[in-house]
Amino acid sequence: MGSINAVVDLRHQNGVAVVAMDNAPVNALGIALRTGLMRAMDQLRGDPAVKAIVLCGTARAFSGGADITEFGKPPQDPNLRQVIAAVEDMPVPVVAAIQGVALGGGLELALGCHARVAWGTARLGLPEVKLGLLPGAGGTQRLPRVVGLEKALSMIVTGNPIGAKEAADCGLVDAVLDGAYPDAAVAWAQTLTERRRVRDRDDALTSAREDPGLINSMAAPLLKASGAAAPRACVEAVRGAVDLPFEEGLANERRLFEQLVTGDESRAQRHAFFAEREAQKAVLPSGTQPRPVARAAVVGAGTMGGGIAMCFANAGIPVTVIETEQAALDRGMARIAELYGISAKRGSITPAQAEERRGRIQGQLGLDGARDADIVVEAVFEDMGVKKQVFAELDRLAKPGAVLATNTSYLDIDEIAGATSRPGDVLGTHFFSPANVMKLLEIVRGRQTSPEVIATAADLGKKLSKVGVVVGNCFGFVGNRMLARRSDAAERLLLDGASPAEVDAALTAFGFRMGPFAMADLAGLDIGMRIRRAFGKRAPVSDALCDAGRYGQKTGSGFYVYEGRNATPDPEVDRIIAAESEKLGITRHPVGADEITERLIYPMINEGARILEEGIAARPGDIDAIWLHGYNWPVWRGGPMFYADLVGLPRIRDRLQDFHAATGDKALRPAPLLSKLADAGQGFAGQDFGARAA
Ligand code: 3HC
Ligand code: NAI
Repeated sequence: MGSINAVVDLRHQNGVAVVAMDNAPVNALGIALRTGLMRAMDQLRGDPAVKAIVLCGTARAFSGGADITEFGKPPQDPNLRQVIAAVEDMPVPVVAAIQGVALGGGLELALGCHARVAWGTARLGLPEVKLGLLPGAGGTQRLPRVVGLEKALSMIVTGNPIGAKEAADCGLVDAVLDGAYPDAAVAWAQTLTERRRVRDRDDALTSAREDPGLINSMAAPLLKASGAAAPRACVEAVRGAVDLPFEEGLANERRLFEQLVTGDESRAQRHAFFAEREAQKAVLPSGTQPRPVARAAVVGAGTMGGGIAMCFANAGIPVTVIETEQAALDRGMARIAELYGISAKRGSITPAQAEERRGRIQGQLGLDGARDADIVVEAVFEDMGVKKQVFAELDRLAKPGAVLATNTSYLDIDEIAGATSRPGDVLGTHFFSPANVMKLLEIVRGRQTSPEVIATAADLGKKLSKVGVVVGNCFGFVGNRMLARRSDAAERLLLDGASPAEVDAALTAFGFRMGPFAMADLAGLDIGMRIRRAFGKRAPVSDALCDAGRYGQKTGSGFYVYEGRNATPDPEVDRIIAAESEKLGITRHPVGADEITERLIYPMINEGARILEEGIAARPGDIDAIWLHGYNWPVWRGGPMFYADLVGLPRIRDRLQDFHAATGDKALRPAPLLSKLADAGQGFAGQDFGARAA
């Protein structure tokens, strides 16, 4: 409890007033914090004993920005712009002392101060664009006046934060301090004689004002093909800093902010922010504790095993990679070394870090190498016989209490667990390819998996910097089960008359980076074929292409023909498709882009509804987080279940009924949950599905 209110404290130190914000966890600038800051400024304004003011936060955060939960609710005064104006108008210098994050409104508040000092841990940025917004409390007007147009545009349009050193180099902070916090800032403030308002620093914009084309040429590379509105609006707001007097620039920024904050894209991105965090909270009996993981083993050094081993090593956990044959082990270890080499070359890690991480990965032949591991992740061939053999042997070798995890994409976790005498310790940890890059981790509960083991995997997910989402055991779990619906729809669209290029174009227009056929060509059509064969399924066009030896990019042809990576539509593919349509007695007809999109997306939503009904996913937001982080669902569309609510469930139900009537495909019948919610005029959001998944 502070002396001003519950979240703001004011104390005096050698003629300097220290205003400390403490609104856990990240000093979000909600109404209590804004009120406290305003009161503190009111109290200090006429105090002749105060020579300077230091505004500080906690070790974790100066401030994480505006309170995102307040968006969409009735505004409460004082608003953040008023608070920042009050700080800027103080008669004595105000210094922002920044430790931890100063993000969004937090950095805007610091920019309202007359000077900024940072500690080495500081991360400063304007990430609003990642929430479908722009900095709406003066950031687009003040930042360019401090760091110049080019740096400001880059920070505002990408939303990426910078560290203390970079902030000092570009003038965003006036000094980097390393003494006690905030005492070193108090000492620094005592030396300050000038009270310099950022709004008056127009000199940084002189060259931009002399060359009206400059802002466009600087912005162009930042606005790469993206359907989202926020990055463009960010540029427009910054343009106001160049073209307009300060107050008008602020008003222009506000107008653009209001447009975004009330729009669907920002709603979607705010939903994505919270869904990602909520999804990582496993629904478990209270008091469940994770087991410690100090050592790991990964069985199989193929595509996935190597990447998974790197995840452990990157998180500082030593890991043994196990293979049956030396040649396979050598290949796997060489690939790992190559990937670290590439990262070091690109500069994402230093050569010393690459070496240290690689040093945490040891190769070994035989499952004996799993004896000491606290967790074993199996990533051998997708074959039930092989997996059961591995788990039976792990059961004999692994130490008591070790978590035994499988990376299977489709196989039954319970059957795998049945090969051991300790099914409570077995679960799925489904990483996505490339495992060292993709953020999603599906944590698959078996019937007998113990809560402790799920908690261990969820905890590990955080340590490995993954978005770990607990899901139930079924064919394809959540992500691949829904993907299968989209693949079926894509095949059927071809048979009905659409071309691969039309289907791909519809999905990229929706916001995905790639359509399903370009994706299939990249992954290799033989992979899908092997999975279908194993489960007795067929996909007429894909199977026919495989029969013709067209496996995708690796054979130079698949749904397209390739010159290098350049895809061109192929009349031969059109002939193959037409022949398959004829065999099935389907009359081909043109299919419009909107219908293609609906036919690809709505069946996925329908499957999502079944997944919720069955308790395979605990919350609609979990499904969204899975699609956002495992399948590149466009973030400004919030995820499939959020998107469903936006479209309206009655429309989706009616269209599914149409598609079912036209194709006879039973999977397209609206799921009971979808129909029920549509009839009741409700959406997925806010429904309580949680308990069943516990
Ligand atoms: N508002 C409300 N809640 C916030 C928040 C914010 N700005 N930032 C974080 N939180 C909450 C999270 O939801 C989470 O809540 P939970 O524990 O109940 O799940 C909790 O704080 C901790 O967050 P993280 O789990 O993300 O903690 P990390 O330490 O991993 O990350 C962070 C901290 C870097 C601050 C990260 O939370 C983050 O990026 N936050 C968003 C920052 C942001 O976008 N700020 C701009 C807001 S918009 C704005 O300022 C508009 C202005 O221009 C007018
Ligand atoms: P892969 O074929 O690249 O690698 C499998 C490796 O396991 C091979 O190196 C093989 O020598 C080794 N192996 C086989 N039997 C072994 C045994 N008894 N002991 C030790 N090593 C053994 O396969 P990939 O693609 O890495 O897949 C592995 C698992 O991950 C599969 O279950 C797959 O379904 C799943 N998966 C694959 C994804 C992908 O995109 N490739 C994505 C997500 C999951």
